Amino acid sequence: MRKRTIRDIDWPGKRALVRVDFNVPMDARGHIVDDTRIRAALPTLQYLVEHGAAVVLMSHLGRPKGVDPRYSLRPVAHRLGELLGRPVHFVEELVGPQAQAAAQALGPGEVLLLENTRFDPRETQNDPTLAQELARLGDVFVMDAFGSAHRAHASTVGVARHLPGVAGLLVERELEYLGRVLENPEPPFVAILGGAKIRDKIRVIHRLLEKVDTILIGGGMANTFLAAEGYAMGASLVEEEAIPVAARLMEQAPDVLRLPVDLVVADAFAPDANGKVVAVSQVPEGWMALDIGPATIAHYANHLAGAHTVFWNGPMGVFEFPAFAKGTVAMAEILADLSDATTIIGGGDSAAAVHQTGLAHRMTHISTGGGASLKFLEGKELPGIAALQDAET
Ligand code: 3PG
Repeated sequence: MRKRTIRDIDWPGKRALVRVDFNVPMDARGHIVDDTRIRAALPTLQYLVEHGAAVVLMSHLGRPKGVDPRYSLRPVAHRLGELLGRPVHFVEELVGPQAQAAAQALGPGEVLLLENTRFDPRETQNDPTLAQELARLGDVFVMDAFGSAHRAHASTVGVARHLPGVAGLLVERELEYLGRVLENPEPPFVAILGGAKIRDKIRVIHRLLEKVDTILIGGGMANTFLAAEGYAMGASLVEEEAIPVAARLMEQAPDVLRLPVDLVVADAFAPDANGKVVAVSQVPEGWMALDIGPATIAHYANHLAGAHTVFWNGPMGVFEFPAFAKGTVAMAEILADLSDATTIIGGGDSAAAVHQTGLAHRMTHISTGGGASLKFLEGKELPGIAALQDAET
C-alpha cells in the first residue's frame, strides 16, 4: 500500500516532527566519521524548509543506557547546519520544558534537533506516555528514518498514534527501489549475496529465488555452501549448523545459485597474513578463505554483463583488510560500469564497502538501512512504515 508523503501536506504554519536516522559512526573524540546518513535526510529537510514548515528533528545515536554525553547529537546538529547552509538549533532534551519551548518558538523554515531519543528509556519500550509527549512537539509526524523503520519505538511508531504520519522523501525512495527488487525487477535480474552468515540471509534468499535469474554467492557464507558441496574448507569460517540448509538450497536452485571457483586463502585472520589464490578444491589445512579469487571475479563479471537489475548485499571478503578487499572492490567496479542496469545496494557493510571504493555515485540506489533493508527484503512489513497513513487511491 502506498503511503502519504510530505508532498501531500500543506505545510505553511505547521510543525513537522521528523524522525531521521542520524545514527552515524563517531570516533573517540566525538567526530563524525561518515555523514552519509545526515546527507541522505537533506532532500526531505530542504523540502520542508522551502515549504514553510517549522522542522523538529529526532533521532537515536548508538545504544546508550540512559543519558551518556558520548552519545549526544550536538555534533550532528553542527554538521547538519553546515550541510543545510542554515543554523540548526539544538536542545539537550527530548521532551522536557526546554524542548517544548524551543519547538514552540520555532518559526517557518527553522530547524531544531532534539537530544538522543535513547537517552529516555521509554523510547525503546515504545512507551505511550513518551509518544504523547513527543507528539506535542509537532503537528504532523514525518518518518524519514528508513534505517530505524524495523524498530517499533516511541519515536518511530508510538508517535504516529497521536499525529498524522507521512513518509519523508528518503523513506519514499528506499521503498521504491527496494520494493522494485521484490516486485518488478527488470530481467535479467542478478543478486550478489555475501557477508558472514547464511542464517542472517536465509529468508532473503528464499524471497529472491522467486524473482532472480542468478544469485552470485561470496563472502563467509560461500564457505558454508562450498562445505555443503563437499569441499574441505580448512580453517575457514563455516556455519556447521547451516550446511543442511545450504545443501537444500543448492538442490532446489542449482541453475540459479553460483559459487566461487577459487578463493584467496590466508594463514591467519590478520591484515598482514600470508595470502594465496587456490581452487576451491585446494584449500590447505589450517588456511582460511578471506576473499573470492580472480577466476570467480571473471565468472561473476560474465553473469553481470547484460543484467538489467542488480541487487547486492554483503561483501565478498574481509574488505576491511586491503589485501582481502579485491573481490568486493571488483564487484563495485563491475556494477559501476554497467550502463544499462538499475543497481541497488543493501545497507550496512555493503553500503560501507561501496562508499569505501569511491564509486557510490555510480550506483542507482544505496540503502541507508542495514537491518531494515534485510527485514524489508524478507517481505516483512516494517512497523515504522505500517504506522503511516495510506495514500488515497
Ligand atoms: C542502524 O544503524 O541499523 C539503525 O540506526 C538502527 O540502529 P539499532 O540497531 O541500534 O536500532
